[in-house]
Amino acid sequence: MNILQISSTPFTDQKPGTSGLRKKVQRFQTAHYLENFLQAIFNVATDLKGGLLIVGGDGRYYNTEAIQTILKMAVAHGVSHIKVGQNGLLSTPAVSHLIRKQSAAGGIILSASHNPGGPEGDFGIKFNTANGGPADTKFTDQVYADSQHITAYTIAEIDDVPLETQGQYQLGETLIEIIDPVSDYADLMEQIFDFAKIKALFGSGLLSICFDAMHAVTGPYAKEIFERRLNAAVGSVINAIPQEDFGGGHPDPNLIYARELVERLNQGNDSPDLGAASDGDGDRYMLIGRNFFVNPSDCLAIMTANAHLLSGYQLGLSGVARSLPTSRAVDKVAETLGIECYETPTGWKYFGNLLDERRITLCGEESFGGGSDHIREKDGIWAVLFWLNLVTVKRQSVEEITRAHWARFGRHYYSRHDYEGLDSTVAEQLMKALRKRVETLKGETFAGHTASHTVSDCDDFSYTDPVDRSVTEHQGIRILFEDESRIVFRLSGTGTEGATLRVYLERYEANPALHDLETQVVLADMINIAREVAELKTRCGREQPDIVT
Ligand code: G1P
Ligand code: ZN
Repeated sequence: MNILQISSTPFTDQKPGTSGLRKKVQRFQTAHYLENFLQAIFNVATDLKGGLLIVGGDGRYYNTEAIQTILKMAVAHGVSHIKVGQNGLLSTPAVSHLIRKQSAAGGIILSASHNPGGPEGDFGIKFNTANGGPADTKFTDQVYADSQHITAYTIAEIDDVPLETQGQYQLGETLIEIIDPVSDYADLMEQIFDFAKIKALFGSGLLSICFDAMHAVTGPYAKEIFERRLNAAVGSVINAIPQEDFGGGHPDPNLIYARELVERLNQGNDSPDLGAASDGDGDRYMLIGRNFFVNPSDCLAIMTANAHLLSGYQLGLSGVARSLPTSRAVDKVAETLGIECYETPTGWKYFGNLLDERRITLCGEESFGGGSDHIREKDGIWAVLFWLNLVTVKRQSVEEITRAHWARFGRHYYSRHDYEGLDSTVAEQLMKALRKRVETLKGETFAGHTASHTVSDCDDFSYTDPVDRSVTEHQGIRILFEDESRIVFRLSGTGTEGATLRVYLERYEANPALHDLETQVVLADMINIAREVAELKTRCGREQPDIVT
């Protein structure tokens, strides 16, 4: 077998963002682009030599081509064992689990998560370290620095490995194994949740679900877990076959893109009890009841308040964490339970240390992410199983559980407004101006429709990791008001074109008589204050956000 040294020159745009390196497919197809980035990973992740590497992706366009390149480079770099999901498929949570279970040195995940796929769509690559979680900023900074000095990459001259069937191939010092992508993960879920109880309810027709896999990676997982192991009716999983372009859709589990699911849940008594969807790589989820949406921040709070009712979490929670923009609903629960609630920057990588040190058991993000200490990634199917288990224990509907939660802890009306496709310079200037503005905002009062709002605190969020003391700065402008309302501004770190400004709006209401109002109406004052403070119209020429979730 020949090992080739191919000369190359650096690409300046290989800095990983919130979740790995994400670019248009065409960018990844540029000669040497993928190889350069992989070479930088192999240079930094020195444990891969002689170790086990897990490889898989969400099945999007370019997935299998990228995997073949990874295999050739891994062989050239002396990786001793590589496990690859059959057909190149592995959900992000499944990779995290396999790394941990098999004591792998790391994993490479090919995905651009919820971004559209296909030749014109997006592609992404992410490295996870031995704890199963996304590599931390120190690692990704090193990879980037390394990528800027590449002069050559190393690759083995071997044939493509057939990914369609399970099997083993010895190539020089490297054993390549094509594995069943689903079974280990499904076994883990069976250990955590009370499958017998859920199965009995499905079997007796007292419980039903519709799970929308959005033509993405969770199809095979959901079929195996919900329909085969839990006995949910055949057909409970829709859009179950992974496709390279996600059926032309947008694999983002929200009320807009999971339209078919939403329609099925809005059929009154004929609807399934529970509706759920997951994204491209299976780490995000949306949970809905009949005609009823539960926002992800509330999901985290509800899980935290009820975890002790589930056998897998009956010992209670050591603590919880949420990302900065996630609503403070979970903070109220943590306070009542007397457990710590950490506030981290956006992105799952910041939960890793807290989970490893057992400071937290559950964590979540407003962007349809939830997870626990069972792995080091967010986990869509886990979250759906958590809800299924909760519904079977409580014998209440999703809506009843949520309303009871609000009655006890109060409701955090919450919304995210995204302004997409902004000029990057304009967006940077807006954030710069906001940073300046926060210095004098404290104590200012803004008039509102029914009440005025006084700023009680305001800053540019900086996070000191309590475990390794690393400091991450400039993570978002947060404006806190005396009445517990809040606005957060930050720029997206996952986009592939221009800049996206995210504005997160929140207002707390303790009175149950006021828990059935229209979210955007309740947030109207916050929306106006956000527009004014950020000078949205003059700076961006935008009156309205592009996406409201
Ligand atoms: C977005 C979400 C963030 C999530 C990330 C990866 O990042 O907002 O919560 O962790 O995708 O799924 P953003 O584009 O805002 O940087
Ligand atoms: Zn995802």
